[in-house]
Amino acid sequence: MSAVHVLNGPNLNLLGKREPAIYGTASLDDIRATLEKRCAERGVSLVFRQSNHEGDLVDWIQEAGGAGAPVILNAGALTHTSIALYDAIKGAQAVVIEVHLSNVHARESFRSHSFISPAARGVIAGFGPLSYVLALDAVFENELRKS
Ligand code: DQA
Repeated sequence: MSAVHVLNGPNLNLLGKREPAIYGTASLDDIRATLEKRCAERGVSLVFRQSNHEGDLVDWIQEAGGAGAPVILNAGALTHTSIALYDAIKGAQAVVIEVHLSNVHARESFRSHSFISPAARGVIAGFGPLSYVLALDAVFENELRKS
């Protein structure tokens, strides 16, 4: 594995300012910096992206899948709506870990359904920015098991 792709969906650019009681005060740049450091320690490069547009995420999942790079995906609200993202993961045979800052199962009932989960290798939710770190650890462990 030479790179890990961390992909973030709609509204996650507002992290830190957006509903801090739910999502906390760390910004997406803070999360990127934490992951950057951990990846550097392992000699792995980090591709870290955010978009408010579904098609960008489809393109990026296809790119990562094509490159054989694992994906940590917080699809935001698209988690609960997007068959296109499900199809992209399946179609590109991308290895995806689904992450959420909040515990989606403890919130509105519409957040309990994910179109991503059936195509994901695993799901981590509810630990704030730590969800991303745990997902990165899972990626590293998964890679170790392969070698
Ligand atoms: C989220 C949970 C989603 O339900 C919500 O739409 C988001 C963020 C999370 O990280 O907790 O935008 O994915």
